[in-house]
Amino acid sequence: MTVGPTSGHRSGPRRLVLGIETSCDETAASVVEDSRRVRSNIIASQHDLHAEYRGVVPEIASRAHAERITPVVRGALEAAGVSLTEIELIAVGNRPGLIGSLLVGVAAAKGLALSLGIPFIAVDHVHAHLYAGLLGRDCDPAPLRPVEELFPALGLVISGGHTSLYLCQSPTRCTRIAGTIDDAIGEAYDKVAAILGLPFPGGPSLDRLAAAHAAAALEPDRDGFPIARIAPDSLDFSFSGLKTAALYAYRGVPESRRVKDKRLARGEPDPVTRPAAQVAATFQRAAVATIVLKLGRALERYPHCRALLVGGGVSANSLLRSELERLAAERRLPVVLPALEYCLDNAAMIAGLGSALWLERDRIGDPWSTGAVPTTGS
Ligand code: KG4
Ligand code: ZN
Repeated sequence: MTVGPTSGHRSGPRRLVLGIETSCDETAASVVEDSRRVRSNIIASQHDLHAEYRGVVPEIASRAHAERITPVVRGALEAAGVSLTEIELIAVGNRPGLIGSLLVGVAAAKGLALSLGIPFIAVDHVHAHLYAGLLGRDCDPAPLRPVEELFPALGLVISGGHTSLYLCQSPTRCTRIAGTIDDAIGEAYDKVAAILGLPFPGGPSLDRLAAAHAAAALEPDRDGFPIARIAPDSLDFSFSGLKTAALYAYRGVPESRRVKDKRLARGEPDPVTRPAAQVAATFQRAAVATIVLKLGRALERYPHCRALLVGGGVSANSLLRSELERLAAERRLPVVLPALEYCLDNAAMIAGLGSALWLERDRIGDPWSTGAVPTTGS
């Protein structure tokens, strides 16, 4: 059933696109011009609402989105200096995420598009993270550099919910080739931060502590913080062993696990507990080494890739960014890292990808019959 405008009044690219993002605990709206120029990027974070629970409470998140979505959209239009009537397309992240949170964004986007008589498009949040690095700096008057030369590219999404590798033929065509078999890297960061008693959100707090004490880091593999290889040719990730290693290093091996602990079973001396700063620095070193190891394997397997595209909240990590720059220099391969404001959840990446996808709308199907979907498409 077609319930609204499907093509609008122009057949070419949409110049001004409004993006809306509400998949988790950030209410965000953005205006993007020509698919890559960010005219505004407004993010209302709910961290203060969830801090006492040390994690996102879905019911609180969706209620807060409903309260904030209108002022946040208004704020994005004002900051961009455009009126609603100038917007030509509305893009929304409709998957994956918390269902109650996604519904707020999808309903707002559809309602706005329908009332304005303009088209609407739904975007996969994880694919949008890969697009974030292609966004130009705010209102840069210089011509944007073409991105075609970067493709085919190897994509890496590292966030609170995902740790996945992609083969990307273009900014809009990415196929998942590997993922985590247990925890996502961001989830491991958040859990280890909680174990160490660091403030919520855990990832950035752990990063800061680790960076300040980098010199105290132990040797991950040798000192019991595993870099998960899984199998010699595996591109998949695993972080649960590393998370447990951090827990035991900080609190000691619990009585119930002592017989199973490999080092104790080999008759090695009881491992000493370590200070939080040293655990943080070693965990960070091992987590980043795991990512770099798998990227190395993937680049060996797919040597035709011309660039590395990275996105997701953990791409803000200080050690990861410097290690990726090193890898890029070593392999003479461009690494495309988002500017810090586009690493965490934001609506600029949604508007940008939505704008690019709009050109291929024939293969997407009728966007008006799209709903909110908690799981990822690929
Ligand atoms: O992409 P994102 O905003 O939300 C999801 O789609 O999941 O990523 C959030 C994740 C959280 O786990 C957060 O702790 C982590 O990204 N994160 C970091 C850093 N900044 C955010 N992890 C490590 N180092 C950071 N600097
Ligand atoms: Zn995200």
